[in-house]
Amino acid sequence: MSADQLTETPQLTLSTFAELWDGFRQRDLRQRLYDAGGVVMRDALLDLHGDAHKLRRRVENRLFRRGTFRFWEDELVPRIIDEAFAPSLRAGRGDLVQLGYRTTMNLTARVAGADHPTGSVEETDALQQFAVTFSEGATLVHSTRDHAQVRAEVEEALGRFDAMFFTPSYERRRALAADPAVPEDELPRDVLMAMVRNADELGADRTVMLREVAFYLQAGSHSTSDAFTHAADEILRWRQRHPDLAGRLGDDRFVQRCVHEVFRLHPASPVAERRALADVTLRDGRVVPAGTVVVMDIRAANRDPEVFGADAEEFDPLRTVPDGVPPWGHTFGGGMHACIGMELDGGTVPRDEAGGGPDHVLGTVPLMVRELLRHGVRPDPDHPPTKDPHSKRDHFGTYPVLFDPS
Ligand code: HEM
Repeated sequence: MSADQLTETPQLTLSTFAELWDGFRQRDLRQRLYDAGGVVMRDALLDLHGDAHKLRRRVENRLFRRGTFRFWEDELVPRIIDEAFAPSLRAGRGDLVQLGYRTTMNLTARVAGADHPTGSVEETDALQQFAVTFSEGATLVHSTRDHAQVRAEVEEALGRFDAMFFTPSYERRRALAADPAVPEDELPRDVLMAMVRNADELGADRTVMLREVAFYLQAGSHSTSDAFTHAADEILRWRQRHPDLAGRLGDDRFVQRCVHEVFRLHPASPVAERRALADVTLRDGRVVPAGTVVVMDIRAANRDPEVFGADAEEFDPLRTVPDGVPPWGHTFGGGMHACIGMELDGGTVPRDEAGGGPDHVLGTVPLMVRELLRHGVRPDPDHPPTKDPHSKRDHFGTYPVLFDPS
């Protein structure tokens, strides 16, 4: 039983599309999902509030500008996908869960600023293990395990991560920042570099930066790889149901549409949680008393039939949504904590059917799915996918697939 249940903290659940739109934008609703997860989340962007959040977000936002996305999408992401997919494509078979993790771990580490000293698969797998442990620490509020035990494991993992990845990455960036001969456009474009350069303004010491990099590793990797596996699964099943429409999967924009529909149906974080710092008046007139825990049910709001139609539970990449509604619903949150990696993963929504213009970016997940489709991906008939037995959430544990011979 949680502390809130013991002390009977008042709780309110918001679950329609309109309620969540409002809830995410209420300034006196403070992040609360990570109250127990301080070992990793203390002072992380997602757990900051008010001016401290605004300042950090401004510094980190500079990295996530359209120009940087173009660079990531044109150069960085295809290279990382190639490296991660090549062994499976050569073998003619692979596992989507593993492909997803290997790709997104390397990408997220690049964005966070955790250098890979050797670039080996073993290093990627070590990063993944760290991300899993940090994620368990961050979401301690939902853990059924002994909290002190989980905290001790996370502390121990942070120490090893510090020695293996963080210290060399941090020292390299400090040396670069101190060297006037290094031009600005040759500095790494990542979160750690941005924090090192703005350390005084942010009031952030080395320990805060260590936790921020650890937070990014888990925030970016699991959500992306999970979306990738669900996207491949929904598309493969849709293709089987609609062989007459399968040709549309050769169009990048259509693949992106499929992925947006998958984001809506399978939000990586099915709930967000806030605590009311003061009495809050919702747009529908209800007053939420100070101290109330507000649970925002993203999964339910994304299936709100008022907004997404009577068939909102189904995967339909041809679905149209009302003006002003993102096709992924609330999957990336909203308001001050809206996901900073949203465009990196999902790209931008084309302005019209014809395609989107020069600024249009497809996003990492559509690029990964496109790569699978280009190589004739199909489920392995002898090894059906399995769900992750260690998670209460809807995650795949294995997803074996076959590819055309290269
Ligand atoms: C499909 C993939 C992803 C999903 C579904 C997702 C979802 C979310 C959600 C729901 C939030 C807001 C949580 C809240 O309000 O309590 C969030 C925040 C955040 N996400 Fe993501 N995310 C994804 C990918 C990424 C990636 C790739 C990165 C970075 C490389 C990232 C970095 C962040 C950060 C830094 C925040 C905190 C923003 C702030 O507090 O200002 N996410 N994400």
